[in-house]
Amino acid sequence: MDRIRIVGGHALNGSIPISGAKNATLPLMIASLLTEDDLTLENVPDLADVALLKRILANHGVDYSVAGKRRGESVHAGETLTLRAKAIVDTTAPYDLVSRMRASFWVIGPLLARMHEARVSLPGGCAIGTRPVDFFLTGLEALGAEIDIDAGYVVARAPGGLRGGALRLPQPSVGATHTLMMAATLTRGDTLIENAAREPEVRDLAECLVKMGAMIEGAGTSTIQISGRDRLNGAVHEVLPDRIEAGTYAMAVAATGGDVLLQGARADLLTAALDALAGTGVEVTSTEGGVRIRRNGSGVDPVSVSTAPFPGFPTDLQAQFMALMTGARGTSEIRETIFENRFMHVQELARLGADIRLDGQVATIRGVSRLRGAPVMATDLRASVSLVIGGLAAEGETLVNRVYHLDRGFERLEGKLSACGAEIERLRA
Ligand code: UD1
Repeated sequence: MDRIRIVGGHALNGSIPISGAKNATLPLMIASLLTEDDLTLENVPDLADVALLKRILANHGVDYSVAGKRRGESVHAGETLTLRAKAIVDTTAPYDLVSRMRASFWVIGPLLARMHEARVSLPGGCAIGTRPVDFFLTGLEALGAEIDIDAGYVVARAPGGLRGGALRLPQPSVGATHTLMMAATLTRGDTLIENAAREPEVRDLAECLVKMGAMIEGAGTSTIQISGRDRLNGAVHEVLPDRIEAGTYAMAVAATGGDVLLQGARADLLTAALDALAGTGVEVTSTEGGVRIRRNGSGVDPVSVSTAPFPGFPTDLQAQFMALMTGARGTSEIRETIFENRFMHVQELARLGADIRLDGQVATIRGVSRLRGAPVMATDLRASVSLVIGGLAAEGETLVNRVYHLDRGFERLEGKLSACGAEIERLRA
């Protein structure tokens, strides 16, 4: 397995291009199941999760192609991916594929809407908590589906097709919102989703679905209304920039010091995290080209945060912010409210010399003057990048093991950081 070697203590200076958002790309790709026409997505990041979803969709009968480089384009501009679900030949999403990426469970919505049946493996346990699918199932039932669980599979049927319905999510789940919104676009009747997730990726998906002919109002707010259609058509859609990638690099610069322009990042998608960073004393400026993060020689002040659904502080930046707080001038508290077991990075950050006490869902972090490099183990996507941030700030060498977690969600991580002066390299297995 590949490892990443970092020699810490270098400031970051320069600019980092922000890729298309992983968490928008995945549902957008799944939306291709709703139409027999071409869906072309621009600015698609080159990530392991995207590659896996291509395989999963191909198993349902989706053809895909990637456009080659165009004149004047940089090699690293996002991919242009065209998906075509002319005929869906298989409505089963098997365990060996779904168990590797939870978001692939979301195919259940479009498959059921278009084919009136779907057999999708339960995603199974996950490193960051139990992550059940109950909201999806009751939501699909509200749209007229019959649901059975058989041998680890959700078997969903809607003889005669889904109909509209009204439902209220017990909690604003991103995945359930994506899935139910997609399903409701191809129904007979109107659907109302209350307490919907308000994440920018939900709005991005809705914008694409509207281009495909769907009728959706309110995406991006907690009440979404959808009027079902008989069929949807193809569309061309550009994926929005990855706010989590942008926030991650912002925290890396805050931790090491330096001056970096996060090219293409949108401050309006990242207000809570940028406010927290500004509170630590880091200079945050929103410019036309992106977001600029600057910290001179002085350290950072402690800031306490609590994760919350959008527009609150994102759980996907909790580990990275904790890595930053390990070097703060004082004590901070980080409360995780979305997932019950999302503190696996704590033990690994401790290996770098961090002083963190865990009490249920609250971590108390006492800033230390210097972290020291050590071998550490990545456990999930966001936790692993917090170890990279720790390593960049630490004295000496850090070896991050199990970096396949990073490859799921960060495009060219070592390239982007080393272009700004970091000493970081991948050691191939
Ligand atoms: C998405 C993101 C993930 C992010 C998370 C929260 C993608 C690909 N992933 O994950 O990066 O960390 O949102 O912002 O976009 N829940 C239930 N029952 C359900 C569904 C969810 O109890 O049926 C709970 C979950 O356990 C969790 C909460 O709802 O406590 C929110 O999870 P959810 O928003 O669904 O996360 P994902 O969509 O899986």
